[in-house]
Amino acid sequence: MPAGKKQLKPLTLPGLTKGVAMNKKELRKSIIRRRDQLSPEEIRAKSSSIAGKLYNLPAYREAGTVMFFITFGSEVNTRPMVEDTIKRGKVALAPKPVPKTREMIPSQIIDWDNDLVPGAYDIPEPKEEALRPFKPETIDLLIVPGVAFDLKGNRLGYGGGYYDRFFSLLGSHTPLVALVFDLQIVPAVPVDEWDRPVNVIITEKRVIENRQ
Ligand SMILES: Nc1ncnc2c1ncn2[C@@H]1O[C@H](COP(=O)(O)OP(=O)(O)OP(=O)(O)O)[C@@H](O)[C@H]1O
Ligand SMILES: [Mg+2]
Repeated sequence: MPAGKKQLKPLTLPGLTKGVAMNKKELRKSIIRRRDQLSPEEIRAKSSSIAGKLYNLPAYREAGTVMFFITFGSEVNTRPMVEDTIKRGKVALAPKPVPKTREMIPSQIIDWDNDLVPGAYDIPEPKEEALRPFKPETIDLLIVPGVAFDLKGNRLGYGGGYYDRFFSLLGSHTPLVALVFDLQIVPAVPVDEWDRPVNVIITEKRVIENRQ
């Protein structure tokens, strides 16, 4: 039995809403703690390997409009990917979170340094003057952040429900591609009824594709 599986077992019992919340919370804490131990050089090298795999993905090659997440803390560094995407003549979008409704407005990024400022939760986001909104249904490929994933594509986010809400606004065939470090892959992610799995997970070591 893979390590950690036993700890997640109470999730299969009905009616344990508190247990589910606790387990998501505990898993978040432990994976973020692990990820925070990566050195800047490790983050740089692993992110670069992840970028190479993304560029080879047909869903990326064929996409005209790609929405990225803007890196925060020890996450995979998306900046080089956003800049390469712009250089390739594609439209690169980034989310502007609306904390009141927990929605995200996709906004076009033209110049990383000029367009972004620290916003809600201190995560860089498009500033008011640089807001160039796009409709979610124009997105050909959504790059998804996350804390932990399992091999089925189940995803644990940061707990805001922002991405879970956003997924339902996309076209039904828009692929969801998660970019994470391999240490964020766990045996099983606790899921609730509103959680939607991703189609592809890219880590520095592998590309995990899920048929859905
Ligand atoms: N589609 C939805 N509509 C309304 N509320 C939702 C939806 N999806 C999730 N939520 C709410 O968001 C909260 C957080 O959900 P969850 O714990 O799955 O967050 P998460 O996936 O870690 O966060 P995120 O999506 O921001 O990465 C839940 O309490 C849930 O009620
Ligand atoms: Mg969720």
